[in-house]
Amino acid sequence: MTTRRTLLGQITTVAASAALSNSLFSSIAAQAQPPAGAPPRAPGQADEMTTNITQQRRRMPGYDFGPLPTKLPPEAEAVKGKNSLQAHASKFKILAGAAVPVRALQADPVFQELVADQYGILVPENELKMVALRPSLDKFDFTASDALLAFTKQHGMKLRGHTLVWHGSVPQWVRQQSSTLDLRKVMVEHIQTVMGHYKGQIQAWDVVNEAILPSDGDPNGMRKTVWFNAMGPEYIDLAFRTAREADPNAKLSYNDYGVEYDKEDQAEKRRLILAMVRRMKAANVPIDAIGVQAHIRVGFNQSMGTGLKEYIEAIRQMGLDVYVTELDVNEDDVTYDDVEKRDAAVADTYRQFLTLMLSNPATKAVLTWGVTDRRTWLNGFNGHSQKFPNRPQRCLPFDAAYKPKPAFFAIRDSFDHKKI
Ligand code: XIL
Repeated sequence: MTTRRTLLGQITTVAASAALSNSLFSSIAAQAQPPAGAPPRAPGQADEMTTNITQQRRRMPGYDFGPLPTKLPPEAEAVKGKNSLQAHASKFKILAGAAVPVRALQADPVFQELVADQYGILVPENELKMVALRPSLDKFDFTASDALLAFTKQHGMKLRGHTLVWHGSVPQWVRQQSSTLDLRKVMVEHIQTVMGHYKGQIQAWDVVNEAILPSDGDPNGMRKTVWFNAMGPEYIDLAFRTAREADPNAKLSYNDYGVEYDKEDQAEKRRLILAMVRRMKAANVPIDAIGVQAHIRVGFNQSMGTGLKEYIEAIRQMGLDVYVTELDVNEDDVTYDDVEKRDAAVADTYRQFLTLMLSNPATKAVLTWGVTDRRTWLNGFNGHSQKFPNRPQRCLPFDAAYKPKPAFFAIRDSFDHKKI
């Protein structure tokens, strides 16, 4: 138990010393300031998720969850080891993981213990995004992501890379000089340097994140980002080719949201993503997997099924893997306040979704976007809690006291019931 806490604990202690405090904590604090995912609105009509992220500018008041737990509750102790998510997922060669905010992990030894007990793979929630790594054109700051890599190594976990090219994490200095900078060179050098730094140590990279947005009006449905505007659709191929060369052992994935439901706009997005990837494959552009972000909502089962099933089967038929990369269940549509009933509804949604995803052998990893209800991006932005803005979301597998919730058992059961 103590060993599990050791590494980040040491880092915390060392960082408190004058030598490291500047680099480690100031860089992480700086990342906490601008919301890394606040994309400027591109032309055209925004879709649901983008509208939500844009609205994050109206920050919600922080919720008071009380002091941090000083030890794991007995219910969390009871699901360690062979009862953990990763132990159950391993039986089917699935990776179970979660996104973690590195700063919160460093500050919270009990959280470290929980995470090390449960998962086989972690992804930094923000710390590998360009805006976090690149204070300026000539500077890279790997302090926070290096600390997480060391933590995962110490605990025999894998690390996932998120994300190299994304409209939502373009630093100010890129935006401000986008007409004078050689953006092709900036992107290529970014991929080479970041992947080079972690060569051989990252299981999979989201090379490009969220490149499709039909409402931007491009005939191929490409989102009109800084990168697209500078290079045209070829930026995708260039990014993946550069990535393969930089770290031939990392799996390369394209990651997107808004593909889970049977609604027409999502069906169209699925078609466009598949068309893009088919074109890439035909041109021998290296790609290994497609990420389904899976920011879903309670009630998911009422409006999904066929489209998603066909989508992941089409991915499998192209010879690619599927990763569930950012799973969480927004419960803002639940009208009753009773916690037990809300937790049951969230768990049911996890179960429905994962049963579908895990029924296809292409699905190789399931990561939630966060671990406990104490820290979720859904509580950070008004757009995600419009109906109940004063009610903290109960969207993740553990509650704010780190007790496993029905959602935890639903996720674990979904691994157990995997048939293929
Ligand atoms: C989010 C983080 O959770 C927030 O902390 C940050 O402020 C904005 O970005 N899709 C993605 C993730 O690919 O990178 C986003 O993460 C959530 C939506």
